[in-house]
Amino acid sequence: MKAVLMRSTGGPEVLAVEQVPEPVPTAGQSLVDVTLAGVNYDDLERRAGDVQPLALPAVLGVDAVGHRRRDGRRVAVLLRAGGGYAQVVVAEDRYTVEVPDYLSDEQAVALLEQGGTAYGALMLAGRLRAGEAVAVSAAAGGVGHLAIQLALALGANPVIGLASTAAKRALVTELGAHRVLDPGTGDLGAQLREASSGGVGLFLDSVGGELTRAALDGLAPFGRLVSIGWRAGGGQAADRCGPVEVSTEALVGRSIGCAGFWMRHVVEDRQLLTGIADELFDLAKRGQLVARIDRTVSLAEVGQAHTALATRATAGKILIDVNREP
Ligand SMILES: NC(=O)c1ccc[n+]([C@@H]2O[C@H](COP(=O)([O-])OP(=O)(O)OC[C@H]3O[C@@H](n4cnc5c(N)ncnc54)[C@H](OP(=O)(O)O)[C@@H]3O)[C@@H](O)[C@H]2O)c1
Repeated sequence: MKAVLMRSTGGPEVLAVEQVPEPVPTAGQSLVDVTLAGVNYDDLERRAGDVQPLALPAVLGVDAVGHRRRDGRRVAVLLRAGGGYAQVVVAEDRYTVEVPDYLSDEQAVALLEQGGTAYGALMLAGRLRAGEAVAVSAAAGGVGHLAIQLALALGANPVIGLASTAAKRALVTELGAHRVLDPGTGDLGAQLREASSGGVGLFLDSVGGELTRAALDGLAPFGRLVSIGWRAGGGQAADRCGPVEVSTEALVGRSIGCAGFWMRHVVEDRQLLTGIADELFDLAKRGQLVARIDRTVSLAEVGQAHTALATRATAGKILIDVNREP
């Protein structure tokens, strides 16, 4: 089978298509013939060696959809240790969900990891309440554009999206956001307070650094910030985009809260995973959740897709058609 192999950490140039043996499943695992695999921001950081280092040579990719070889069922899989950028994956049965007939492969793979993250951050960590103001960073992104739709479906009002370009802001408006802000201009905390008539109830933060500090400033009393990540890399970038330290004194002084959310804790809980997948797929069936596909690339074009994601040139989900010739 073909896979995108990474023999060292580094830039997109370390990714190369190679012919490799199929993986061998053990108890509790199944082979899946992949149709589409997903690209996620974490893949870039793993490729660079910044987070969760992989044993090399490695195959990146944490989400895929295809047919389980054992019974031919169409399944979406989450791969905690990578392996998705390949024509065949070995999937843990407990991290696998069957895809209902009404859902396309594209929608299934785009919804499970990134939709699950958006849902978990808003509902499990953020305890979203209908009628409160919700703001979402990188709102045109893979997680962000689903978070905007989920916040609307779950009754948040107003829903405020942040995006860095006019084209991305137009997309976030099309998704139904009540207000869309440019995080790069002016006093973002003040803009958030103005857009929410006094302060945001829940802020979903995937960026870190300065944006996190401004988002905390824009919270209302009893408002919560949920972090799902930041830009890894260290150095000067860490101050601009890294994790932020928050003192309990600052939280108490304004009656605000901070939480984190990691999809791994959903994936490891079978009941939670299937419950959230059902909820996401049901919202998709009702037309309340539609994943936007930014582009679909071949295995040979994965490096280009990584560059596009790193340079903020994408909106929505990036997919890999593992059987497409470049
Ligand atoms: N905790 C979890 O379980 C979990 C699971 C999945 C993803 N995540 C995290 O969620 C975030 C979004 O992931 P994604 O795959 O959906 O990516 P994405 O949002 O599609 O892409 C990243 C976006 O971040 C924004 N951004 C802000 N500052 C940036 C910078 N300095 N460099 C690059 N981009 C910057 C850009 O949007 P603008 O141009 O509009 O600013 C960019 O398009 C990532 O931080 C990822 O690690 C966490």
